[in-house]
Amino acid sequence: MGVTWHNEFRGERGPLYLYGAGGQGRDVLWLAGDCGVKVAGVYDDDSAKWGGLRAGDVPVLRPDAYLNTRCVLLAVGTPRAMRAIVDKYALRDRPTATLVHPSVQGRLVGVGAGVVVQAGVVLGADVVIDGYALVNYGALLGHDTKVGRFVAIYPGASLGGFCVVKEGAAIGSNATVLPGVCVGAWAVVGAGAVVTKDVPDGATVVGVPARVIKQAEEK
Ligand SMILES: CC(C)(COP(=O)(O)OP(=O)(O)OC[C@H]1O[C@@H](n2cnc3c(N)ncnc32)[C@H](O)[C@@H]1OP(=O)(O)O)[C@@H](O)C(=O)NCCC(=O)NCCS
Repeated sequence: MGVTWHNEFRGERGPLYLYGAGGQGRDVLWLAGDCGVKVAGVYDDDSAKWGGLRAGDVPVLRPDAYLNTRCVLLAVGTPRAMRAIVDKYALRDRPTATLVHPSVQGRLVGVGAGVVVQAGVVLGADVVIDGYALVNYGALLGHDTKVGRFVAIYPGASLGGFCVVKEGAAIGSNATVLPGVCVGAWAVVGAGAVVTKDVPDGATVVGVPARVIKQAEEK
């Protein structure tokens, strides 16, 4: 795969829409603006937001029959919400955008569709990020790290080299994941944790060093 750390949306498939008119939606609107991408509208399930101008100067739209024919970028903040919307509106493998803020330093050797990489992120060599993942402000991904689908890496989190973050995992703000550690599918790393060893699928870990406090049955 080629080096594609730049903004990949060029509007070949019509205008870009977002899904999510909350805080993450407004963050992604700013990101799109900084990437030079115009957003035509923001979908949201919350009827209180329909028709309003709560997302800057972009209209908030009721999800309609056209949604799953449009180019929609997820703008919600948690892995389960991302997957729920993709499933509800049959967005899996539909065309979407990949937005990487121009301030991002480093490069990706692979980036999936629907990925959002926010301002101030630093990437080591040969990082791969799979579809619909969110890498939020100021996170650091060490060389050769692999980030799975629907992952959320929250602001300021730091991952060492050769880490693996499996599908649907969330890495809390300012958490540190030591080099080579694997965070399991749909696991949650608490804010500020220092993860020294692999995290099982579905586990929630907190603290320094991180310890399991919960284990989800459903993965
Ligand atoms: C880890 C986390 C997911 C736990 O949430 P939860 O499942 O609702 O758990 P609770 O809030 O019930 O907390 C359970 C226990 O863990 C402790 N705890 C929760 N988060 C913690 C953290 N980050 N570090 C240390 N301890 C933590 C709580 O104090 C509580 O301890 P107690 O049982 O002794 O009272 C959450 O606290 C967290 O850190 N999420 C990351 C959020 C984040 O970074 N968001 C960024 C958005 S931009």
